[in-house]
Amino acid sequence: MNTQLPSAVPIQQLHHFAYRARDAEETRHFYEDILGLPLYHIIQSDHVPSTGEYCPYTHFFFRLQDGSFIAFFDLGDDQAAEPSPNTPRWVNHIAFRVNTEQELEATRARLTGHGVEVIGITDHHIFKSIYFFDPNGIRLELSAQVADEFQMLQMSRQARQRLDEWTQRKQVWRAERVAGQTPDKLKPAHNDRPEAARAESAVSPLGAKPPERSAS
Ligand SMILES: [Fe+2]
Repeated sequence: MNTQLPSAVPIQQLHHFAYRARDAEETRHFYEDILGLPLYHIIQSDHVPSTGEYCPYTHFFFRLQDGSFIAFFDLGDDQAAEPSPNTPRWVNHIAFRVNTEQELEATRARLTGHGVEVIGITDHHIFKSIYFFDPNGIRLELSAQVADEFQMLQMSRQARQRLDEWTQRKQVWRAERVAGQTPDKLKPAHNDRPEAARAESAVSPLGAKPPERSAS
């Protein structure tokens, strides 16, 4: 390690997460009118400040209670971001915290009333969640914490050991795969959610359905 390098600085919180929007007003309606996140900031320009490239955009931000943002770019072409071709739809997602399970229930009712398909409440033991897609195909999760800070701290003490165990098994698996002696995918040695297998047949493998890509 290079001892001349500065120490890692304290990274405080999410500032913003940004994604492509098919249409600014469609996205505003979803985040502001349905989810209740106020539109708080907008930047419009012809050139991208970080790269200098020409790409006219409307960049707009919705504010969460802690002062962080979820933000979007409308590139003026009514095109949605394509889903990842090699990643299941449930993998890439962003989760926001709410205070109580009752707020999850209320949001589920509110979303369903607006025609949004919702999965959950799903019990993750340490927190409970609902899942749904925004108009741009982003999988969103709202989570209410169940475990207290002490329980989270206790569990955190196992995290590195378990990750290292996984990494060691992967190294063996990679070597065996080169020799053609092992399956394409490695499975964890632990199963923290054995009850999920029983629910598997009742839920679509994609989770909640992503929105239609039509312009309506
Ligand atoms: Fe999640």
